[in-house]
Amino acid sequence: MKHVLSSGQYTRESLEELFDLTDKIRNDTKAYAHKLDDKIIAIMFYEPSTRTRLSFETAALKLGAKIITTENAAEFSSAAKGETIQDTVKVIAGYADAMVIRHRSDTSAVEAASVEKIPIINAGAGKGEHPTQALLDLYTIREKKGKIDGMKVAILGDLKYGRTIHSLIKLLSLYDNIEIYGLSKDAFMLPEEYIEMLKEKNIDYKICYSFDELPKDLDIIYHTRIQAERFEGDFGKEEFIINKEVLDKFSKDTILLHPLPRVIEIATDVDDDPRACYFEQAHNGLYVRMALLLQVLNKDK
Ligand code: NCD
Repeated sequence: MKHVLSSGQYTRESLEELFDLTDKIRNDTKAYAHKLDDKIIAIMFYEPSTRTRLSFETAALKLGAKIITTENAAEFSSAAKGETIQDTVKVIAGYADAMVIRHRSDTSAVEAASVEKIPIINAGAGKGEHPTQALLDLYTIREKKGKIDGMKVAILGDLKYGRTIHSLIKLLSLYDNIEIYGLSKDAFMLPEEYIEMLKEKNIDYKICYSFDELPKDLDIIYHTRIQAERFEGDFGKEEFIINKEVLDKFSKDTILLHPLPRVIEIATDVDDDPRACYFEQAHNGLYVRMALLLQVLNKDK
């Protein structure tokens, strides 16, 4: 059974297959309008979401599927009564053909998939992974830069609790000559396990302490929000804020990405800069998620 649980399950070949399908869907969306006519997709979100939930719902609807959905499963599903994820999946498998899940536990998607009754798509698991976001991030990089090999990427913001970061660096590590620069407050540095993973894959990872330490010819700046809901205590606000003045220190070809929602880490004065690609990036999510739904339901050929 096909699931989407972690970025670690992808190879360069399987990514190319996914992105080719995404391109086809994007170029002729109507041709896919009835691919999932007889399918029902369950969308179970135990944590807040705007883009991920609504883009998955839109993706399912554009493919002809129907959806059953709960936007606040933590409160309104039987999880509030103590039901395990496995029991929930066993029941939902009687109603739906696939399930998209977002949950505060890092192991939620793997637990859901262990039931092996319906395909599971991880739409964000605690501070662990968010593979579908990373897939649309990489798709956007490929589209904007024409390639992924050789990219110089700066990751900013919350590298510790930011699941989109964890999933993205796993995908980047599949490519050649990647350089990654990490810039964050001390409390939000990339955890050792990910630094080790990059080392094993021969990816250069450099910890930076100021904007001035980042190369001017970066290909990508990927900023993220401090995930305040994931830790106790107060580590203060983001210090590394990208505004027009900061962005202008970099090349005219440096693109700025963010999974959104942004809080203060990107000032709105860069929104109109051609290098600011985060809204386009979010829009790409729709097509990547359409492709993923087709793949897990074996309707991609
Ligand atoms: C991200 C998430 O949920 O991890 N949001 C998203 O899906 N685009 C990032 C975040 O919440 O900061």
